[in-house]
Amino acid sequence: MSLLDRIASLEEELAKAEARTADEAERFRVAMLGRNGAVTELFEAFKQVAGDEKRALGQRMNQLKQKAQARWEELKAGVNGKEEMTASVIDSSSPALIEPTGSLHPITLIRQRIIDVFARIGFTVSQGPEVEDDHHNFTALNFPPDHPARDMQDTFFVEGPGGFALRTHTSSVQVRVMEGQKPPIRTISPGRVYRNEAISARAHCMFHQVEALYVDEGVSFAELKGTLDYFAKSLFGPEVSIRLRPSYFPFTEPSAEVDMSCTICGGPGCNVCKHSGWVEIMGCGMVDPAVLANCGIDPEVYSGFALGMGVERIAQLIYRVPDLRLYWENDVRFLDQFTSAHLRS
Ligand code: DAH
Repeated sequence: MSLLDRIASLEEELAKAEARTADEAERFRVAMLGRNGAVTELFEAFKQVAGDEKRALGQRMNQLKQKAQARWEELKAGVNGKEEMTASVIDSSSPALIEPTGSLHPITLIRQRIIDVFARIGFTVSQGPEVEDDHHNFTALNFPPDHPARDMQDTFFVEGPGGFALRTHTSSVQVRVMEGQKPPIRTISPGRVYRNEAISARAHCMFHQVEALYVDEGVSFAELKGTLDYFAKSLFGPEVSIRLRPSYFPFTEPSAEVDMSCTICGGPGCNVCKHSGWVEIMGCGMVDPAVLANCGIDPEVYSGFALGMGVERIAQLIYRVPDLRLYWENDVRFLDQFTSAHLRS
C-alpha cells in the first residue's frame, strides 16, 4: 500500500473511532499517537521517502496528525459530555423496566412442590422408562392376565415383539426400584403416563403421576396414614384433613382411596367437591406381599406402603383450573399466569 493510501485509510479509521469511556479515549490516543501508534509509525515510514516525494506528502502527513489529535480531543470531550448528560437524565425514583421473563409450566411447578414435600422426609427421586414392558407395568404388579387395565381400550401398545406399551402408571417404577435395591427403600417416581382415553375437560390421554414407595422392616398402615396427613397439610395447609375409603388395586392390600377436605369451599360443598366437602387426591395401600416377592424382596421380613397421585389433579386443586386440556395447549396467555407477578413490568 502506498503511503498516500495508508494516510487515507487511517483518516477513515479516525472518523469512525468511538469512545464510550475515558479509558477508551485513552486507548485511541495510544493506538494512534502513542510511541508505537499507527500515526507515529507512518511518520517513521515517511522518513524513508525520497526528497521530492517528501515535500508533496509532508502536508498530508501533518494534516493526518492534526486530525488524529483533534479526534482524540473530541472523543475525550464526548465522553465527559455524555457522562454529564447521563447524570442529569437519571431519575432514580422511576420504576425499573423489567423484560418479561418466561415461566415454568404449572405442572412442573406442582411436581417440584410434591418432590420437595417428600424430600423433607427422606424420599429420593427415581425414574423409569415411558415405554415399558408388560412385566414392569402389569405382571410384577399382580395384574391378572385378564385384568381390564390391560385392555386395548386403556393401553397404548407399541407395535412389534416384546409386548411393550406406553406405561399406564408410574407404579412400574416401583417394580424397577425394588428389583434393583435392597430395603430400606424410600423413593418417589414422578413422570408421564399414557392412557387411551378420549380427550375432554376431565380426561386426557397423557398426564403426570407421582408414585411413592416405602419398604422396610415393620412398615405399618399407621405410617402410611401419617405420611398422607403430612403430605396433604404440607401442600395444602394445616387446616386440611384427610380420610381413607377402602378401595382395590391389584398391587396393594389393603388399598384405599385418599380424600382431602375440599380446599375450595372448606367443607360445606361446592361444584368442585360435588357438594360432598371432600375431593379425591390419590390411591394408596400396603404393598401386596406377592408384589414384594415378585421383585425379590422377602415379604416375611419386609413390608411397605405405596401411593400414587395425578399431578394435574393436584394442580387443579391448587390453581383451580378446571379444564385438563389447558395444561397441554401451551397457550402463552394461560402459561403467563404462572409467572411470578412481581417480575412483570
Ligand atoms: N397406579 C394407580 C393408578 O394409576 C395409582 C396408585 C394407587 C398407585 C395405589 C399406588 C397405589 O402406588 O398404592 O391409578
